[in-house]
Amino acid sequence: MCGIVAAIASQDVLTTLIEGLQRLEYRGYDSAGVALLNSDGKLTRVREVGKVAALEAALALQPASGKVGIAHTRWATHGRPSQSNAHPHVSGEHLAVVHNGIIENHEPLRQQLRNEGYTFTSETDTEVVAHLVAREFDRTGELTAAVQATLSQLEGAYALAVMHAEQPDTLVGARKGSPLVVGLSEEGYYLGSDPLALLPVTRQFHYLKEGDVVSLTPAGVVIHDEKGQVVTREVHHFAHEDSATGKAGYRHFMLKEIFEQPKAVADTLSSLLGDDRVRIDALGPGAAALLDSVKQVHIVACGTSYHAGQVARYWLEELAGIPCQVEVASEYRYRQVVVQPGTLFLTLSQSGETADTLAALRFAQARQDGQGQSAYLGTLAICNVPGSSLVRESDLCVLTKAGPEIGVASTKAFTTQLAALMVVVLALRQLGQGASDEEARIVAGLKALPEILSQALHLSDDIAELATKFVDRHHTLFLGRGKQYPIAMEGALKLKEISYIHAEAYAAGELKHGPLALIDEDMPIVAVAPNCELIEKLKSNLQEVRARGGELFIFADPEARFTQGDGVHVMTLPICCPQLAPILYTLPLQLLSYHVAVLKGTDVDQPRNLAKSVTVE
Ligand code: G6P
Repeated sequence: MCGIVAAIASQDVLTTLIEGLQRLEYRGYDSAGVALLNSDGKLTRVREVGKVAALEAALALQPASGKVGIAHTRWATHGRPSQSNAHPHVSGEHLAVVHNGIIENHEPLRQQLRNEGYTFTSETDTEVVAHLVAREFDRTGELTAAVQATLSQLEGAYALAVMHAEQPDTLVGARKGSPLVVGLSEEGYYLGSDPLALLPVTRQFHYLKEGDVVSLTPAGVVIHDEKGQVVTREVHHFAHEDSATGKAGYRHFMLKEIFEQPKAVADTLSSLLGDDRVRIDALGPGAAALLDSVKQVHIVACGTSYHAGQVARYWLEELAGIPCQVEVASEYRYRQVVVQPGTLFLTLSQSGETADTLAALRFAQARQDGQGQSAYLGTLAICNVPGSSLVRESDLCVLTKAGPEIGVASTKAFTTQLAALMVVVLALRQLGQGASDEEARIVAGLKALPEILSQALHLSDDIAELATKFVDRHHTLFLGRGKQYPIAMEGALKLKEISYIHAEAYAAGELKHGPLALIDEDMPIVAVAPNCELIEKLKSNLQEVRARGGELFIFADPEARFTQGDGVHVMTLPICCPQLAPILYTLPLQLLSYHVAVLKGTDVDQPRNLAKSVTVE
């Protein structure tokens, strides 16, 4: 949410900044801006409403250059998307800052600064940071010290990059609650919200820790921790393929990422499966000891990741006999959830930086039992980004291997989370009940899954045809029962996110308690209907819908025995291991949303008002 890129190098950095912004655009895209310090120590700032392309067009008319620069792509929090609210924000003619996060005490600070004579030209919380650092710089004459003195006055979350024309050989960054990495190369040093932003210039990174302040100068990188001590942070090599730049021939990143799922699931599972059981040792040192004591699981996540948790609840209870509670992080973190002894706290996150999920983890870690001991047995994160805050701060971590996900609507991150969750569930089952034929059947199913997912993707053209029936609709209902109910929820979320069609999901058995009143010829009903023990009950629910004129779009396998007919469209999927059907049935729903969005002409990869990584509360 908001993307920062900054550079200090031996060459002009504008190209690096613009390319970095393009790569960070998934984090926010309502406005973008850049500020550079040229060789005369003059600060030039260019900002534009809209995407990075609009900023590039503005830069063509108003050239800027320099070997030190900061840049930003914004997702509005304080103040509407406008040129005056776009970052960088300045104080006077010398200081410029870009910020990701929210400064919670910006009101009193603004008042105080106004009383001292500072004038404000934007509605943002960030502008107070610009004035505070400028004020401290006037006192100290040194940028790092000025930033440190400012941070002690701020409440809230931030990643910052700051530069000052009177100290043109220094770029200062800071992080607390929002991600920031430091890129290292022979030609220069860089800051970015995500390593992806900097892959054209480096693959070597420091991941800053909470409270770190970093100074970048031509002489090198100096990191101070939150106590002001100089510290060294490990250098990480970014090993992923650089898939962020290209769509590999696909029209959108989302379509590319949908089609990458067979490989992403296979990659995620590759080290986790033995011959006929899951490999508990592959879950990391200490995993067996921790998981062996688990009596209950609390799963906390946001958005699509939350839906993966909902599926896992069915698996945990059915396969491992372990009670499970699933909650969105924004609710969990403000509740005094009762924690029974032996409870594992499990988070799910593609990015590992989602503000509410991280805050929930920290809240859970701080909970204590009556004896002053940790209330939770331990914490486990399932995450797609190695080195992310969630990974670093959890006791155990299972990494999904989806690779970078650029489309704002999550696809391959979800299915890989489900694959990893099934491994964790089977590990808990194995520890509690010993190896079993059921585990062997599901492990065989997991091994076969990539191929079955590939087969399902062949339905893309047929689903595109089906999508024509949704384009003019305003509402859609998604139905499922059992572990397909969360998949219906995920299908509805995808349709809302990228096509802007209002969609709701219901457990089909709940229809009669209200939503049936909505059914008429204008309401398409999507049913997730693989053959399972609840299929006859689902069929009865669908009859009730059809009897009231609702048009049915049913995703089913041949064994579910649905017949195509008037007002009933059936899309036939391959048969898979019944426990893994939630993973398979996700794909056609993703494709349905995708094709509807394309037909509607919406911005598929960057839907309005959304951002991929929500690093503010
Ligand atoms: C945003 C994204 C969603 C994602 C959610 C949680 O809302 O647009 O696609 O599911 O954040 O993100 P996480 O990185 O924690 O999975």
